[in-house]
Formats: sequence, C-alpha cells, structure tokens
Amino acid sequence: MTKTPDDFPRFSLAHLPTPLLEMKRLRHALEKRANRELPRLFIKRDDCTGLASGGNKTRKLEFLIGEALAAGADTIITTGALQSNHARQTAAAAAAAGLSCVLVLFDSVPYRGHAYRSSGNLLLDRLLGAEVRIEEADADAGEVFRKLFREIEGRGGKPYFVPVGGSSAVGSLGYAAAYLEIADQLEVLSISNAALVHASSSGGTQAGLIAGAQIRPNGPAVIGINVYRADNHRMAEDIHALACKTAEILNVPLPELSAVTLEGGFLGERYGIPTEAMKEAVELTARTEGVLLDPVYTGKGMAGFLAKAVAGDYAKQDAAVFLHTGGMAGLFAYEGEF
Ligand SMILES: Cc1ncc(COP(=O)(O)O)c(C=O)c1O
Repeated sequence: MTKTPDDFPRFSLAHLPTPLLEMKRLRHALEKRANRELPRLFIKRDDCTGLASGGNKTRKLEFLIGEALAAGADTIITTGALQSNHARQTAAAAAAAGLSCVLVLFDSVPYRGHAYRSSGNLLLDRLLGAEVRIEEADADAGEVFRKLFREIEGRGGKPYFVPVGGSSAVGSLGYAAAYLEIADQLEVLSISNAALVHASSSGGTQAGLIAGAQIRPNGPAVIGINVYRADNHRMAEDIHALACKTAEILNVPLPELSAVTLEGGFLGERYGIPTEAMKEAVELTARTEGVLLDPVYTGKGMAGFLAKAVAGDYAKQDAAVFLHTGGMAGLFAYEGEF
C-alpha cells in the first residue's frame, strides 16, 4: 500500500507550513534587465523552518531524529564541511530532542576568509552544545567514524549516524512532504504550472521533491542548481538513485532518470568558493525583497534561478518558485565578500 511521510516516525522540529511569498520587486528588477514581462516569481521560505535560524535540514531531521529516537539512540553523529548548515541544524535538533551530538567536520573547502574557521555555523555548533571534531580534508573518513562509534559504544552510549546533508531515504521524506505542501499552496493560488528551483548539494532535497512528485503528479517541475560537484551527470545519477530509494520506502512508482533536472553552470570553481553571480544574487535579493541568502548554497541557487528567468526558461510556466533552503548563518563566515 502507498504510504505518505506521515506514516513514518517523526519528531516535530519545524514551523510548518513555511510561507510562499511573491517577489514582485525582484521580478520588476529582472524585467528591466530582460526588457520584457516575466512570469510571477515566488519564494518558498524554508529558511523560516524555525530551528536555530532555519533551513532545509530541519524537515529532514524531523524524520532522522524520529528514527534515532525509535531506535533508542542517545548520541547523534553527523558530518560536513566546517561551515555546514546541516551540522548546525543537527546540533540544534539533537539539543531539542535531549540527545548528545558529535559533529565531525572535514576541513575540505580551500576558502581562507578570516572568519571561516571561527564564525558562522561553527560558532553556532558550539553554542548549541555539540562536540565539534575537526579533521583534515584527506583524513580516512571510514576509520574516523569506526573509531568514534567504538568510543561512544565503549562508554555505553548508542550512536545514530546521520549521513552528510541528512540525505538518506528517511531524511528525504522531509522533502517529499514539502513537495505536497508546496503543491497545495500553489493550488490555493490557482497556479497549475510552475517551476520549483533550488540549490542541490548532497541531493536529499531534490530526491525528496522528486519522490513527492510521484505521490502528487502535476505539481511543480523540480529543477536543481548544482552547487556541489563538478561532475553534473554523476550527481544527477546519484540524486536519481536516492529518489528511487525514497519512492521505494513510500511504496510509490520509481521516478525515471529524466525526472532529475540538474543545472551545472552555477557552481563556479568549486563547492564553497564564491562566484560573482552568487554575490550579485545575494545582494539583489537582499535589496529588492529584504531576504537574506547564503554564499555557498542559496546564493548560487538564486544566481541560477535569476539567470533562467532572464533567459526566458520559465516562459511556458505561470510562475517560478525559488525554494529558499536557508544557510544565512554562513554569511558571517564569508563577511569579506560583501
Ligand atoms: C542552505 C542549504 N541549501 C541547500 C542545501 C542542499 O541541500 P541537499 O544537501 O539536500 O542537496 C544545503 C545542504 O547543506 C544547505 O545547507
């Protein structure tokens, strides 16, 4: 029998539904640039999920923490880069659930801004009570986690591992549910044909949205902006595999590979390294809508969203929605850029 995300263990963390707001001033600014009318532009405010400055991981963590609690875990382990938003939200989710949290952060982004190693998400991780362990970029991750599991189990603890970005099938359930929420909100606005654009990295957000579209056909078309990997094709295949796993646990038909649209032109030099288009998108969104994006994910994602609007890519749609996945805390780690 087909399941819905409501059939899985869930620990409530997010303020839902998040608002879906029209961006009229941003649209007018773009219309001047494009010299023609554009479709309506909206922003889905998942930066307002409410947990320690919000973001997309909160929705995933509702299901991941739900599973951890059901398994009787007492310690959450997760991983990411030094300025991982996912790590910060996991630290907050663990605190809210009364669990311990160990963050293993790999020093993998060659960004040398002075605040990168002390401020932004790292500051918040510590404030939220997580134990932060920093590893060299080339450390053997398998060995690091084996040792950590042994250490926690050796003192009688029960660890639960959350994969990078919270991107497992269980985590992706959060975005299958989000897809249904967005489709409902668009229906209320009588918008039947929309593009839904977002920054894609570890892939759980996009995989979940695609799985959600298997529950609710005729919802918005999902378009990921790759902010993570140089090999766009391989990343799309991995997202497809995760979308299939998510569809499998929901017992809905598996999506085709063609359901994964991943734009590869907005990453720049590499993950975590600023681009001019990102800076321009962050500033334009702040100054037209009063909305704060981040330098690593939503800034590059919005750069893609804007470029596609100006290029006429949404011409056949009634509206285009940018899914704001959070990350604002990362701005403070990149303060020299703005
Ligand atoms: C602010 C923000 N946006 C987007 C993403 C990408 O989401 P996903 O890893 O599910 O692809 C992340 C992931 O860390 C993020 O922190």
